[in-house]
Amino acid sequence: MPKLATFSWAILLVLIAAVLSPAAAYNVVNFGARGDGRTDSTAAFLRAWKAACSSATPAAVSVPRGTYLVRSIWFTGPCRSRILFEISGTIVAPNNYNDIGKSEFWILFYKVSRLTVVGGTLDAKGSKFWSCRRGGNNHCPVGARSIAFQTCSNVVVSGLTSLNSQTIHIGINECSNIKIQNVKIIAPSGSPNTDGIHIASSRGITITSSTIRTGDDCVSVGPGSMNVYMEKIGCGPGHGISVGSLGNSFNEEGVQNVTVINSVFTKTDNGVRVKSWARPSGGYAKNLNFKNLIMRNVANPIIIDQKYCPDYRCPHQSSGVRVSQVTYKNIKGTSSTQAAMTFRCSSSNPCSGIKLQDIKLTYVNTLRRPTVSYCENARGSSSGSVFPRSCW
Ligand SMILES: *[C@@H]1O[C@H](CO)[C@@H](O)[C@H](O)[C@H]1NC(C)=O
Repeated sequence: MPKLATFSWAILLVLIAAVLSPAAAYNVVNFGARGDGRTDSTAAFLRAWKAACSSATPAAVSVPRGTYLVRSIWFTGPCRSRILFEISGTIVAPNNYNDIGKSEFWILFYKVSRLTVVGGTLDAKGSKFWSCRRGGNNHCPVGARSIAFQTCSNVVVSGLTSLNSQTIHIGINECSNIKIQNVKIIAPSGSPNTDGIHIASSRGITITSSTIRTGDDCVSVGPGSMNVYMEKIGCGPGHGISVGSLGNSFNEEGVQNVTVINSVFTKTDNGVRVKSWARPSGGYAKNLNFKNLIMRNVANPIIIDQKYCPDYRCPHQSSGVRVSQVTYKNIKGTSSTQAAMTFRCSSSNPCSGIKLQDIKLTYVNTLRRPTVSYCENARGSSSGSVFPRSCW
């Protein structure tokens, strides 16, 4: 009888697997990829993708355990069916940074919808590229984003780890309905322009339960983004979570409805920041909500900076970006500078509708001096207990 029982269990499991798993599975190894860390598996990955993408039934591309060397690769849609991209192994970039750095993208999903990317580690090995950049060398390539979604919709990225990207770790451009969850992004604090996640011209983007330690913004929300929701983000080191940079070009779409909630910032340059160039622009940022945040030793926990102008590229100009309806609620912790709240707004387009509620940001110094607020061209209201005191 035990044998029969085992047998029926086996049948049951097979049935469950058949129902749950996609009808077609495409293992990159069966297409010629080798998990030895040395063999160029780019063509094999592409063959597996093409097979999956043309499947009439839901399909899975699977990358088993092992280390796969892959050059710049474009996974292009539209695909016939839903695709699960399952990564158990590590995908590494070639040692020569020019290989992926000459393209703006390392792994690009282009015009793909109904895609789920699960697990995996991407190691772009960016350090030599950063050295080239830091050295002011004119011959450095543009640099690649490690994983990017261009003109995609209905995508879930879950459980991915991204290490040492040359530039942005995860790029999202002209997309809708993208969910990023349980990702881990790690690059050294001094690595240049290694934003964790950069969003532009996209709507319906959710980022949850993720850890981001990097050399630039943990998340940056660029022009043309709306309905962006971030929750349970552990950010730092890095430059914090930024809306911007905005207003670099004159004809620019605005940003609206961005939420950052239940998150922790540790030793970052900024906590939540809105940043615009001091240049004429028709852009805007409105309906931004920052709530339930903990700041630990953050240089500028709350900051709006509309005078961003590196290399004196905008002398005597003011930002055309209109910033309004920005709510800060229940933000507590420590600031590593005395100016815990800075609202440096545009003289031609003052910030309006800034709401502060239940703020407590103290100075981490041994002199026990209090923190202060700094305002320029900013108007708003306060409620609850607000420390440091607001300017209004
Ligand atoms: C704001 O964005 C959230 C998603 O982050 C969405 O659920 C909500 O409906 C949006 N609100 C408006 C007014 O569009």
